[in-house]
Amino acid sequence: MITMTPIPGNSFYGRDILSVDQFARDDLEYIFGVAEGMRDIARGPGSSDLLRGKVLSCLFYEPSTRTSSSFVAAMSRLGGSVIPINEVHYSSVTKGESLPDTIRTLECYSDVIVLRHPETGSARIAADFARIPVINGGDGIGEHPTQALLDLFTIQEELGHIDGLSVVMVGDLKYGRTVHSLARLLSLYNVRILCVAPDVLRMPDRIIAQLQERGIPTGETADLNVVLADADVLYVTRVQKERFEDQALYERVKGSYVITPQTLRRAKEKMVVMHPLPRVGEISYEVDSDPRAAYFRQMENGMYIRMALLAAVLGKT
Ligand code: NCD
Repeated sequence: MITMTPIPGNSFYGRDILSVDQFARDDLEYIFGVAEGMRDIARGPGSSDLLRGKVLSCLFYEPSTRTSSSFVAAMSRLGGSVIPINEVHYSSVTKGESLPDTIRTLECYSDVIVLRHPETGSARIAADFARIPVINGGDGIGEHPTQALLDLFTIQEELGHIDGLSVVMVGDLKYGRTVHSLARLLSLYNVRILCVAPDVLRMPDRIIAQLQERGIPTGETADLNVVLADADVLYVTRVQKERFEDQALYERVKGSYVITPQTLRRAKEKMVVMHPLPRVGEISYEVDSDPRAAYFRQMENGMYIRMALLAAVLGKT
């Protein structure tokens, strides 16, 4: 994409959002501040005309409920409009022309593109072809940077700070793109990251290595009980059925961890339970009424963060 003149304070203007590695702490503080303003708009008048006349293309090659609908809602609440394209059938990005041609088409009609695609690196490829900003809405098992931003925003809103926290990530840490992005984003802070997964679903070594290079204390175990009492944040993930080649293996590991009210009896009084959703049994419904259950507030925050990101990349904050 082409470079545009940045507005002071807004380093997002005209930029792609592809990976959490592109953010510094200042960028996060900036975007969280804008997101708070967006919450006031949504809870007050409900909408504004900040992005009137702007068009977002929402190009989703994989299923999505929260990411796509929160981007659509975000654009609508800011007075813009959306071209929604869902569950597209595709030919491999590396072999075919399909994604670049689609991107070239959509950039004629819109000002920003959100892309979700099953192949890792697809958002980068799209961005190389596009003249308008591309936002990665999840690229296979690679990254989900906007989810990581809303996750971090939620931690800050719920607990008041990020430095000093112990974050326990549990479930499918191998295929879960949300934890791949969140762990790296958290490494900008003084946190401890404890990974809980069965051996076959461990956090990839390259991510553990990246955390350690940045001086983040990390730990790994398959037993949630070992770390639960220390957790300030318990980040639960779904076992990613669609990424398994061996469905028998999926069946074996899918029920590895289930958070129930009994589990939370052993956790701190002041902590948060988070989940990017959808859940398929990892958190029992009885947990929903526990004040520590933050996952519904977390998904609400997704809209404020995406309002902030759209305004920022379009230079309207
Ligand atoms: C996540 C995703 O798509 O990676 N969902 C989401 O965006 N909220 C998590 C998941 O599908 O398990």
